[in-house]
Amino acid sequence: MAELPLLVARALWLMLPAYIANMGATIVGGGPPIDGGREWSDGRRILGDGKTWRGLLLAPAVAVVFTWILRALGTVDPLSGWGLSGFGPGPWWVVLSYSLGFGALAGDATVSFVKRRRGFERGEKWLGPDQLDFVLGAWTVALLVSLVLHVGGLTASNWFLGAFTGPILLTLLVLTPGLHLVVNYIGWRIGVKEVPW
Ligand code: CTP
Ligand code: MG
Repeated sequence: MAELPLLVARALWLMLPAYIANMGATIVGGGPPIDGGREWSDGRRILGDGKTWRGLLLAPAVAVVFTWILRALGTVDPLSGWGLSGFGPGPWWVVLSYSLGFGALAGDATVSFVKRRRGFERGEKWLGPDQLDFVLGAWTVALLVSLVLHVGGLTASNWFLGAFTGPILLTLLVLTPGLHLVVNYIGWRIGVKEVPW
């Protein structure tokens, strides 16, 4: 395969745990909200009913299960020749894929906090932050966890810095917003999302 398609394939592959966790939250989410129904000093909800514990904690676990499948798929031809990530050395792929998923949902919740402060109702569109919150959250948490694993001597190098190179980060920043909008539109059409964005 040519260089650019390979770069795109490697980038999207690396981000799949975050994408799956973000999508998975709409399916496994629900139940008690993280903010416990409480309001901020402005009289609005802290996060709102769209941010639940199940989404935050269970959706990343769904991503880990999918990562287990991805790791197996990555060894099969022709995928095995594409240099796709195994999501970390030894057993650490479990922790690292969970951190990508958890970071995605944490970033999403952070933007929900800002949305509520700005007066946006739950589910109201905020183009830009809605598409990139989970990307930046996934990167931040996975970087921190990689740092701890490396500094703690558990891994030989910083997994995040080795895997998410500059070109990969750039590719994901360019492709994710469009992909997010398409996936959400499909999610709305098939009835798993309440709004088409
Ligand atoms: N979800 C959840 N728990 C989370 C994140 C998401 O249960 N921590 C579920 C909710 O059902 C939510 C759906 O996934 O409605 C889609 O997430 P998102 O679009 O981020 O939430 P919105 O409802 O649009 O809320 P907000 O305005 O706060 O972004
Ligand atoms: Mg959101």
